[in-house]
Amino acid sequence: METGKVNVTVTVNGVRRSAMVEPRMLLVHFLRDGLGLVGTHIGCDTSQCGACTVLLDGEAVKSCTVLAVQADGSDVTTVEGLGDMENLHPVQEGFWEKHGLQCGFCTPGVMMTAVGLLKQNLNPTEEEIREGLEGVLCRCTGYQNIVRAVQYAAARMSESEGHREVAAAGDDSGEGGR
Ligand code: FES
Ligand code: FES
Repeated sequence: METGKVNVTVTVNGVRRSAMVEPRMLLVHFLRDGLGLVGTHIGCDTSQCGACTVLLDGEAVKSCTVLAVQADGSDVTTVEGLGDMENLHPVQEGFWEKHGLQCGFCTPGVMMTAVGLLKQNLNPTEEEIREGLEGVLCRCTGYQNIVRAVQYAAARMSESEGHREVAAAGDDSGEGGR
């Protein structure tokens, strides 16, 4: 038994992970150093840059402001869990199509913030996107293309949402016609 350490179990990108951690360990260090998920970046030590943003139970949070023990029993999604080369998440696709990154350092945090934003509002105005991204800083100041990337993702996601609704309505009418 490791003295002073506590057990933390978190489902990260769909996989249950457990580790003994110091109670003062931050979630961002648990993800990077404990689990090797280094896509979550650390860009400051003042909780301001947002590079460390992940989804905690579906909500975008700065993982340097959360203790690993506070995440015990939760679901965490990091940028590694968003999509892959064969199956990009619409937000990743948006960054690709609209050139939403320059050096890319802020990109994981910006993308996770955007995913959190679109979970709450699938049809945000440009102003709402800019407000939603306020907590993440891009040192390359590529904000214009970041906003375009999020608008692209919102359009793609609303489109597939629309297709799903049409398909469901089609199923309903099929049922009714029998
Ligand atoms: S590392 Fe800058 S806000 Fe978390
Ligand atoms: S792309 Fe360089 S910090 Fe944002």
